[in-house]
Amino acid sequence: MRLLDGGCGPGTISIDLAAVVSPAEVVGIDLEPSQVDLARAQVAERGASNVRFEVADLYALPFPDESFDAVFLHGVLEHMGEPVRGLREVHRVLKRGGVLGARHADFGAFLLEPAPAPLDRFAGLFQLLMVCNGADPKAGRHQLRWLRESGFTRIEAAASFDCWTRTPAEAHQNARFLAQLVSDSAFAAQLVAAGLADRTVLERMRQGFLEWGANPDAFAAEAWGEAVAWKA
Ligand SMILES: C[S@@+](CC[C@H](N)C(=O)[O-])C[C@H]1O[C@@H](n2cnc3c(N)ncnc32)[C@H](O)[C@@H]1O
Repeated sequence: MRLLDGGCGPGTISIDLAAVVSPAEVVGIDLEPSQVDLARAQVAERGASNVRFEVADLYALPFPDESFDAVFLHGVLEHMGEPVRGLREVHRVLKRGGVLGARHADFGAFLLEPAPAPLDRFAGLFQLLMVCNGADPKAGRHQLRWLRESGFTRIEAAASFDCWTRTPAEAHQNARFLAQLVSDSAFAAQLVAAGLADRTVLERMRQGFLEWGANPDAFAAEAWGEAVAWKA
């Protein structure tokens, strides 16, 4: 068996998949050489022998037709301007009867509570910025259509939420992450450059997230569209 993890990022999920399908081979690919370096470092650290990583583009996979039994895509399609073109490549490299697992975020259903102003603007700003960057913040709800348009006929769809606040410690950690995201990150700089928010609002948001993280009622959850699809 051969499994492809497309847009594998730092390879954490690919290495977990390799443990599940061992001794089958897992190939993780990512467009960003820095992510592939991180993934290779993870392999060295975790000692997985049936997984390898390559720099490659989902729009032009360097693999022959029908060369994988399974493909996994997680959090990738929302960053691709032409997801159907990428999925057609995935369809091409899958063997007949092969299976694709796909899970993509949907920020149109980001739950945040409590969300006093300006925290109530966070999910909306995040979506606007994704659109500015050519990404699709509602990929989760669109992937079923994308799968059909790329040639998959048998598809089972599902959905789930990832809770970011399962314990007070996790809420605190994610609050610090969100506070940094809105104040000291490429995301914050882009929001300002695009005229979507000014530094005063972002500073209020930063303080708001730190207060939110200390609130025992803090709750956040991210929605995901999921699908399993088979190549006929
Ligand atoms: C949010 S990360 C997800 C990483 C991993 N799948 C996970 O869920 O942990 C999205 C990844 O997709 C990669 N990516 C975006 N467009 C790509 C493309 N056309 N071909 C390959 N990788 C791509 C990015 O470089 C990034 O590492």
